[in-house]
Amino acid sequence: MSSYAVRQTPGDTAWFRHDRFGMFIHWGLYAMPARHEWVKTRECRPEAEYEKYFRYFQPDLFDARAWARQARAAGMRYAVLTTKHHEGFCLWDSRYTDYKVTNTPARRDVVREFVEAFRAEGLRVGFYYSLLDWHHPDFPIDMNHPRRKDPDAQAQNEGRDMRRYAQYMRNQVAELLTGYGKIDILWLDFSYGERKEGWMRGKGKEDWESEALIALARRLQPGILINNRAGIEQDLWTPEQHQPTQWLRHPDTGELVTWEACQTFSGSWGYHRDEASWKSPDMLIRMLVNTVSLGGNLLMNVGPTARGYFDARAEAALKVYADWMRLHARSIYGCTMAEPAFLAALPPDCRMTQSEDGSRLYLHLFAYPFAFLPLRGLAGKVDYAQFLGDGSEVERSEGRMDHFGDGLLEDDDLLVLKLPAVRPDTPVPVIELFLKQG
Ligand code: GLC
Repeated sequence: MSSYAVRQTPGDTAWFRHDRFGMFIHWGLYAMPARHEWVKTRECRPEAEYEKYFRYFQPDLFDARAWARQARAAGMRYAVLTTKHHEGFCLWDSRYTDYKVTNTPARRDVVREFVEAFRAEGLRVGFYYSLLDWHHPDFPIDMNHPRRKDPDAQAQNEGRDMRRYAQYMRNQVAELLTGYGKIDILWLDFSYGERKEGWMRGKGKEDWESEALIALARRLQPGILINNRAGIEQDLWTPEQHQPTQWLRHPDTGELVTWEACQTFSGSWGYHRDEASWKSPDMLIRMLVNTVSLGGNLLMNVGPTARGYFDARAEAALKVYADWMRLHARSIYGCTMAEPAFLAALPPDCRMTQSEDGSRLYLHLFAYPFAFLPLRGLAGKVDYAQFLGDGSEVERSEGRMDHFGDGLLEDDDLLVLKLPAVRPDTPVPVIELFLKQG
């Protein structure tokens, strides 16, 4: 068995750790300015001005089934949608606000269409819900808020009542977790309670009343997975926009934790028209492989356009995953970090995963070596080897690399894989090693 013991959490993470790959979807009014989902606060936009996006939001090409089909084709097994991002705009028909999609020209409950379409494709569904809210009149102005630079910002805070806002969040989360069937993930975002700038204070678990919020979510959806960003440790650790280099460990106990890296195609989460920093196909696949080889999940983000479709660049990036996953999903689903003894055999420029039953190893070749791939310590352990992509045999020998038999590079422990000179035409070729059993 190669399955590592992972820190126990309130929810059941078994399916999550098996599925490994999900789609994040950031969609809201910020798709219209199309220059980052924080645009309202970056540009300190007045409420009355931001309002025009609300009046003109008309995603006439929105088709949740097309999103779901692309997610599934890309090999993603679950999806997390921003039901409300920091701007405060709600993608469902909430009873607790008028600032919702059904009051825009769109007139459709996006959340409902999302859950139905994704479930129909066999994907699990999750809700992102922003703890920050730059529209709600009770949310006190702080250093992240669009009104922070107003000369009378501090005075504007009078009468804003965080308790009332916390109740609003509980009402909305209850609505989301009762009105849409079984929800697999609640993704709360985010806490910054330690921050202080002059009179402005950040917000954390006391402000959100996270304990009550989480208790409510657990009561309404037993078994749901919740991330850690409400400031109380739950099921999921969620590093973003960087690639961990080790399996994340609990800071106090040192135990391995369940983690999910969230990443973007180009930097922003919301649709960004002018961004030029789109990741290459190689990098997209490597990020997934790197993550799973360290026991983690990848939540890869798409920011749909204001008209509701995935633009050509996003489609192309998803197609990169689709093409690779069609042939290589076996090295991802139900796989995790390989056992230490196998990791020790890992040549440079390779990443390894292992099936949870321990029977198969997957060598991911980030650089393609000439002719031989030496694996020290694996002699006698492998029963069969093949390229995963086309199921073609990878020939091998044991004990030495050199064919003259003159003693060069001899080592009883050595397993040598013989590679064709021409690298398989895929961003990351994978060799599947079936281990001898018993
Ligand atoms: C951050 C950002 C945000 C994005 C999120 C995704 O906390 O505020 O815009 O939604 O990360 O992880």
